Amino acid sequence: MGQTEPRPILITGAGRRIGLALAHHFLNQQQPVIISYRTHYPAIEGLCAAGAVCIEADFATDDGILAFADEVKSHTRQLRAIIHNASCWQAEKPGTPLTDVLTTMLQIHVHAPYLLNHLLEDRLRGIGHAASDIIHITDYVAERGSDKHIAYAASKAALDNLTRSFARKLAPEVKVNAIAPSLLLFNESDDAVYRQKALNKSLMKIAPGEKEIIDLIDYLLTSCYVTGRTFGLDGGRPLR
Ligand SMILES: NC(=O)c1ccc[n+]([C@@H]2O[C@H](COP(=O)([O-])OP(=O)(O)OC[C@H]3O[C@@H](n4cnc5c(N)ncnc54)[C@H](OP(=O)(O)O)[C@@H]3O)[C@@H](O)[C@H]2O)c1
Repeated sequence: MGQTEPRPILITGAGRRIGLALAHHFLNQQQPVIISYRTHYPAIEGLCAAGAVCIEADFATDDGILAFADEVKSHTRQLRAIIHNASCWQAEKPGTPLTDVLTTMLQIHVHAPYLLNHLLEDRLRGIGHAASDIIHITDYVAERGSDKHIAYAASKAALDNLTRSFARKLAPEVKVNAIAPSLLLFNESDDAVYRQKALNKSLMKIAPGEKEIIDLIDYLLTSCYVTGRTFGLDGGRPLR
């Protein structure tokens, strides 16, 4: 009997927090994983020890994205899924040129997924009906806008739109969906006042942690029908 070819799940920006939790979740299920990391946190050693292929990559330039795609291709002939998790929550601030903010946001949330989806398309195709997935992690503010993170919100809205275009292009072999979270995890530096204000923005009034997004991604991976959709993961925030 021939061995089945491994089909890793590719997760971008998985050195910490949600990406890291996702990577360990799949590894615990014996699902092979390839991750990108920009900063070499101690957690990267743990991922490598658990069997992940860990590739250092900075998506700040198109060359960095192209080099990463080549390296992924050198590791595998097939991918089970791409999860576009890498992100940067940059605000407009005095002293930071506006063009820098806009360029950075478009680079990480639009150039990277746009190029990687094209460059790795052949690794997702050829397996069968609904056999592969692309998941874009966007943000609730793609729908609402944000007065303090204008370029961030616009770039996540563009990523949300890429969901529908790639769903059209890649069906029925590859499903393409987006998840739009609002608060999932606080940053360590968030103070008590900020935390309370953020919790009060949703109906559910919790920061649910990584499990909610992991469960939703598991659902999307098992579906053979859902594509081109954006899933709000926001505790009912639009209803407040
Ligand atoms: N956490 C939440 O409550 C929340 C809410 C709404 C939406 N989301 C979305 O959910 C996803 C995960 O959230 P998170 O809080 O876990 O994100 P996070 O902590 O900000 O991690 C994002 C990862 O992306 C990497 N990254 C940033 N710029 C990069 C670049 N130029 N090249 C390569 N990698 C880069 C970061 O690397 P470094 O470690 O080197 O910076 C980091 O590891 C993100 O897409 C985020 O927008 C999260």
